[in-house]
Amino acid sequence: VSAGRRFQDPLIVRPARASEARDLTALAVRSKAHWGYPETLLALWHSDLALTAELITEESVHVAERAGETVGVVAVSVDGGIAEIEGLWVEPSAMGDGVGRVLFTKAVETARGLGARTLVIVADPNAEKFYLRMGARRTGTVSSRPAGRVLPRLELSL
Ligand SMILES: CC(C)(COP(=O)(O)OP(=O)(O)OC[C@H]1O[C@@H](n2cnc3c(N)ncnc32)[C@H](O)[C@@H]1OP(=O)(O)O)[C@@H](O)C(=O)NCCC(=O)NCCS
Repeated sequence: VSAGRRFQDPLIVRPARASEARDLTALAVRSKAHWGYPETLLALWHSDLALTAELITEESVHVAERAGETVGVVAVSVDGGIAEIEGLWVEPSAMGDGVGRVLFTKAVETARGLGARTLVIVADPNAEKFYLRMGARRTGTVSSRPAGRVLPRLELSL
Protein backbone atom coordinates (compact mmCIF):
# COMPACT_ATOMS: atom_id res chain seq x y z
CA VAL A 1 0.00 0.00 0.00
CA SER A 2 1.50 3.29 -1.08
CA ALA A 3 1.50 6.32 1.21
CA GLY A 4 -0.83 8.01 -1.26
CA ARG A 5 -3.33 5.23 -1.07
CA ARG A 6 -3.23 5.00 2.72
CA PHE A 7 -4.47 8.57 3.06
CA GLN A 8 -7.11 8.27 0.36
CA ASP A 9 -10.65 9.38 1.05
CA PRO A 10 -12.95 6.56 2.10
CA LEU A 11 -15.04 4.65 -0.39
CA ILE A 12 -18.78 5.19 0.04
CA VAL A 13 -21.37 2.86 -1.51
CA ARG A 14 -24.89 4.20 -1.99
CA PRO A 15 -27.95 3.51 -4.15
CA ALA A 16 -27.83 5.03 -7.63
CA ARG A 17 -30.28 7.73 -8.61
CA ALA A 18 -32.30 7.58 -11.84
CA SER A 19 -30.99 11.06 -12.67
CA GLU A 20 -27.47 9.56 -12.93
CA ALA A 21 -28.40 7.25 -15.83
CA ARG A 22 -26.43 9.17 -18.45
CA ASP A 23 -23.28 9.55 -16.31
CA LEU A 24 -23.34 5.91 -15.21
CA THR A 25 -23.77 4.71 -18.79
CA ALA A 26 -20.75 6.80 -19.81
CA LEU A 27 -18.78 5.25 -16.95
CA ALA A 28 -19.79 1.73 -18.09
CA VAL A 29 -18.62 2.50 -21.64
CA ARG A 30 -15.26 3.90 -20.43
CA SER A 31 -14.82 0.87 -18.20
CA LYS A 32 -15.59 -1.64 -20.99
CA ALA A 33 -13.36 0.33 -23.39
CA HIS A 34 -10.48 -0.14 -20.95
CA TRP A 35 -10.01 -3.67 -22.33
CA GLY A 36 -9.16 -2.17 -25.73
CA TYR A 37 -12.29 -3.07 -27.70
CA PRO A 38 -12.78 -1.16 -30.98
CA GLU A 39 -15.47 1.53 -31.25
CA THR A 40 -17.54 -0.70 -33.54
CA LEU A 41 -17.93 -3.33 -30.81
CA LEU A 42 -18.59 -0.74 -28.12
CA ALA A 43 -21.36 0.65 -30.34
CA LEU A 44 -22.78 -2.85 -30.89
CA TRP A 45 -22.86 -3.41 -27.12
CA HIS A 46 -24.13 0.04 -26.18
CA SER A 47 -27.66 -1.10 -25.31
CA ASP A 48 -26.24 -3.85 -23.08
CA LEU A 49 -23.99 -1.36 -21.31
CA ALA A 50 -26.66 1.33 -20.82
CA LEU A 51 -27.76 1.97 -17.26
CA THR A 52 -31.14 3.51 -18.02
CA ALA A 53 -33.33 5.34 -15.52
CA GLU A 54 -35.78 2.40 -15.78
CA LEU A 55 -33.07 -0.11 -14.92
CA ILE A 56 -31.91 2.01 -11.98
CA THR A 57 -35.51 2.13 -10.73
CA GLU A 58 -36.31 -1.55 -11.29
CA GLU A 59 -33.06 -3.22 -10.33
CA SER A 60 -30.72 -2.80 -7.45
CA VAL A 61 -28.02 -0.41 -8.62
CA HIS A 62 -25.32 0.96 -6.33
CA VAL A 63 -22.47 3.35 -6.96
CA ALA A 64 -19.12 3.70 -5.24
CA GLU A 65 -17.98 7.22 -4.53
CA ARG A 66 -14.63 8.59 -3.41
CA ALA A 67 -14.10 12.25 -2.58
CA GLY A 68 -17.41 13.05 -4.25
CA GLU A 69 -16.40 11.30 -7.51
CA THR A 70 -18.27 8.28 -8.81
CA VAL A 71 -15.67 5.53 -9.27
CA GLY A 72 -17.83 2.49 -9.97
CA VAL A 73 -21.30 1.02 -10.33
CA VAL A 74 -22.92 -2.39 -9.90
CA ALA A 75 -26.39 -3.56 -11.02
CA VAL A 76 -28.05 -6.71 -9.70
CA SER A 77 -31.33 -8.30 -10.79
CA VAL A 78 -33.11 -11.02 -8.84
CA ASP A 79 -35.57 -13.54 -10.20
CA GLY A 80 -36.70 -16.03 -7.58
CA GLY A 81 -33.66 -17.63 -6.03
CA ILE A 82 -31.32 -16.51 -8.78
CA ALA A 83 -29.57 -13.16 -8.77
CA GLU A 84 -27.43 -11.90 -11.63
CA ILE A 85 -24.84 -9.18 -11.88
CA GLU A 86 -26.09 -7.13 -14.84
CA GLY A 87 -23.07 -4.86 -14.78
CA LEU A 88 -20.04 -4.10 -12.63
CA TRP A 89 -18.00 -1.20 -13.89
CA VAL A 90 -15.03 0.52 -12.32
CA GLU A 91 -13.71 3.83 -13.63
CA PRO A 92 -10.38 2.98 -15.34
CA SER A 93 -8.42 5.49 -13.21
CA ALA A 94 -9.74 3.74 -10.05
CA MET A 95 -9.04 0.13 -11.10
CA GLY A 96 -6.83 -2.07 -8.96
CA ASP A 97 -7.73 -0.19 -5.82
CA GLY A 98 -10.41 -2.36 -4.23
CA VAL A 99 -13.47 -0.68 -5.78
CA GLY A 100 -14.48 -3.84 -7.66
CA ARG A 101 -14.24 -5.93 -4.51
CA VAL A 102 -16.39 -3.48 -2.53
CA LEU A 103 -19.04 -3.40 -5.27
CA PHE A 104 -19.00 -7.18 -5.67
CA THR A 105 -19.52 -7.50 -1.90
CA LYS A 106 -22.45 -5.09 -2.19
CA ALA A 107 -23.92 -7.24 -4.97
CA VAL A 108 -23.65 -10.33 -2.76
CA GLU A 109 -25.32 -8.56 0.18
CA THR A 110 -28.07 -7.22 -2.08
CA ALA A 111 -28.74 -10.63 -3.63
CA ARG A 112 -28.87 -12.32 -0.21
CA GLY A 113 -31.13 -9.58 1.14
CA LEU A 114 -33.58 -10.18 -1.72
CA GLY A 115 -33.67 -13.90 -0.98
CA ALA A 116 -31.45 -15.22 -3.77
CA ARG A 117 -29.47 -18.41 -3.19
CA THR A 118 -27.22 -18.17 -6.25
CA LEU A 119 -25.43 -15.24 -7.86
CA VAL A 120 -24.80 -15.63 -11.60
CA ILE A 121 -22.24 -13.63 -13.56
CA VAL A 122 -21.83 -13.71 -17.33
CA ALA A 123 -18.45 -12.04 -17.43
CA ASP A 124 -16.26 -10.24 -19.87
CA PRO A 125 -13.42 -12.74 -20.52
CA ASN A 126 -10.93 -10.15 -19.18
CA ALA A 127 -12.80 -9.99 -15.87
CA GLU A 128 -13.14 -13.74 -15.25
CA LYS A 129 -10.11 -13.94 -12.98
CA PHE A 130 -11.51 -11.11 -10.85
CA TYR A 131 -14.72 -13.12 -10.26
CA LEU A 132 -12.74 -16.29 -9.55
CA ARG A 133 -10.75 -14.25 -7.01
CA MET A 134 -14.08 -13.19 -5.47
CA GLY A 135 -14.93 -16.86 -4.92
CA ALA A 136 -17.17 -17.55 -7.91
CA ARG A 137 -16.71 -20.75 -9.90
CA ARG A 138 -16.99 -21.21 -13.63
CA THR A 139 -20.08 -23.18 -14.65
CA GLY A 140 -20.03 -22.81 -18.43
CA THR A 141 -20.19 -20.37 -21.29
CA VAL A 142 -22.81 -18.19 -22.92
CA SER A 143 -22.92 -17.12 -26.58
CA SER A 144 -22.75 -13.40 -27.11
CA ARG A 145 -22.51 -10.82 -29.84
CA PRO A 146 -20.91 -10.60 -32.35
CA ALA A 147 -21.49 -14.18 -33.54
CA GLY A 148 -18.77 -16.49 -32.31
CA ARG A 149 -18.02 -14.52 -29.14
CA VAL A 150 -18.34 -16.71 -26.05
CA LEU A 151 -18.47 -15.41 -22.48
CA PRO A 152 -17.63 -17.29 -19.29
CA ARG A 153 -20.58 -17.96 -16.96
CA LEU A 154 -19.78 -18.06 -13.26
CA GLU A 155 -21.78 -18.73 -10.11
CA LEU A 156 -21.43 -18.01 -6.43
CA SER A 157 -23.55 -19.87 -3.88
CA LEU A 158 -24.97 -17.35 -1.44
C1 LIG B 1 -13.01 -6.32 -13.35
C2 LIG B 1 -13.11 -5.07 -12.48
C3 LIG B 1 -14.54 -4.88 -12.04
C4 LIG B 1 -12.21 -5.26 -11.24
O1 LIG B 1 -12.32 -4.11 -10.42
P1 LIG B 1 -11.07 -3.52 -9.59
O2 LIG B 1 -11.56 -2.42 -8.75
O3 LIG B 1 -9.97 -3.21 -10.53
O4 LIG B 1 -10.67 -4.79 -8.70
P2 LIG B 1 -10.11 -4.80 -7.21
O5 LIG B 1 -9.02 -3.79 -7.10
O6 LIG B 1 -11.24 -4.68 -6.25
O7 LIG B 1 -9.48 -6.27 -7.14
C5 LIG B 1 -9.90 -7.27 -6.24
C6 LIG B 1 -9.01 -8.49 -6.43
O8 LIG B 1 -9.23 -9.04 -7.74
C7 LIG B 1 -8.01 -9.08 -8.47
N1 LIG B 1 -8.29 -8.67 -9.85
C8 LIG B 1 -8.99 -7.59 -10.26
N2 LIG B 1 -9.09 -7.56 -11.59
C9 LIG B 1 -8.43 -8.64 -12.04
C10 LIG B 1 -8.18 -9.16 -13.34
N3 LIG B 1 -8.65 -8.57 -14.45
N4 LIG B 1 -7.47 -10.32 -13.42
C11 LIG B 1 -7.00 -10.94 -12.32
N5 LIG B 1 -7.21 -10.49 -11.05
C12 LIG B 1 -7.93 -9.36 -10.92
C13 LIG B 1 -7.12 -8.05 -7.81
O9 LIG B 1 -5.78 -8.34 -8.01
C14 LIG B 1 -7.53 -8.18 -6.36
O10 LIG B 1 -6.90 -9.30 -5.80
P3 LIG B 1 -6.31 -9.30 -4.29
O11 LIG B 1 -7.52 -9.33 -3.41
O12 LIG B 1 -5.50 -10.53 -4.25
O13 LIG B 1 -5.52 -8.04 -4.14
C15 LIG B 1 -12.57 -3.83 -13.23
O14 LIG B 1 -11.30 -4.10 -13.74
C16 LIG B 1 -13.44 -3.35 -14.36
O15 LIG B 1 -14.40 -2.59 -14.15
N6 LIG B 1 -13.11 -3.76 -15.62
C17 LIG B 1 -13.72 -3.28 -16.83
C18 LIG B 1 -15.16 -3.60 -16.93
C19 LIG B 1 -15.53 -5.04 -16.81
O16 LIG B 1 -15.10 -5.88 -17.57
N7 LIG B 1 -16.35 -5.31 -15.81
C20 LIG B 1 -16.87 -6.62 -15.60
C21 LIG B 1 -17.96 -6.92 -16.53
S1 LIG B 1 -18.50 -8.61 -16.37
